[in-house]
Amino acid sequence: MRFAKSKTIFIAIFKNQSGEKMKQWYQELFSNYAEKYEYESFVHGTQGEVDFIEKEIDYNKKTKILDIGCGTGRHAIELCKRGYSVTGVDLSDSMLKKAAENAHNEGLDIDFINADARNLPFENEFDLVIMICEGAFPLMETDEMNFEILKNAAKASKSDGKLIFTTLNGLYPLFNSVKDFINSNSTTQTNNNNTFDLMTFRDRYQLEVEDDNGQKLALECDERYYVPSEIVWLLKSLNFTKIDIMACKLGEFSRDDPLTRKTMKCW
Ligand SMILES: C[S@@+](CC[C@H](N)C(=O)[O-])C[C@H]1O[C@@H](n2cnc3c(N)ncnc32)[C@H](O)[C@@H]1O
Repeated sequence: MRFAKSKTIFIAIFKNQSGEKMKQWYQELFSNYAEKYEYESFVHGTQGEVDFIEKEIDYNKKTKILDIGCGTGRHAIELCKRGYSVTGVDLSDSMLKKAAENAHNEGLDIDFINADARNLPFENEFDLVIMICEGAFPLMETDEMNFEILKNAAKASKSDGKLIFTTLNGLYPLFNSVKDFINSNSTTQTNNNNTFDLMTFRDRYQLEVEDDNGQKLALECDERYYVPSEIVWLLKSLNFTKIDIMACKLGEFSRDDPLTRKTMKCW
């Protein structure tokens, strides 16, 4: 064994965590943003995304589906329209209220439930679990919480169930950060435009948005990017056996798109 320069020392202290929980950016953002959310550019690929999901379940109308972080219900509603039984869960009352309103306007009856993806009330119930467009995972403030979401998705699935989710591809900022570093003359190796922390694989950035009442919000956001090998490891530790990772194109999910370091999202 060589003494490689890339070795690292870790020192970990065991301590129970306590104290009051702060309201996180994703709770603040989605507490009054349901109307504006539906105008976001990234929500307009629903049909194509559901085409893909349907194909993945062989168009079997008996498939019982759980949509985690369902937001205003676009996938749940489209799946229900196509004849599937769907339950949607989300942390935000306002997103759920809009989801229920959207379903009602389509004459659909869908269970939209307020639940935290880190602690879901389901066990061995669903043939398919979906978490699309970062529905909960990987938005949590700690990696343990993000893992809890995967654990709960696994717990909610039947033993032969399937999980389909999108997430942020860690290879993308890694590649771009390295490029920034190479192009930079800075001796401190920092770049003000680069908010990606290579130690934690978290992108911390400021987001300024107006909520549904026109009130301006300045949020300190924090999103975790995962490299494919991490996702595979996490899923295997939860007994998922066959794991496929592909690039995620808005509205055009396809098994024919390989994941590369230039792809922002994967599923
Ligand atoms: C970017 S939206 C995605 C919504 C929807 N899946 C879509 O594709 O439009 C993220 C959603 O995840 C919800 N969310 C965030 N953290 C959550 C948690 N811990 N448990 C359940 N839902 C959560 C938010 O309230 C929000 O509605």
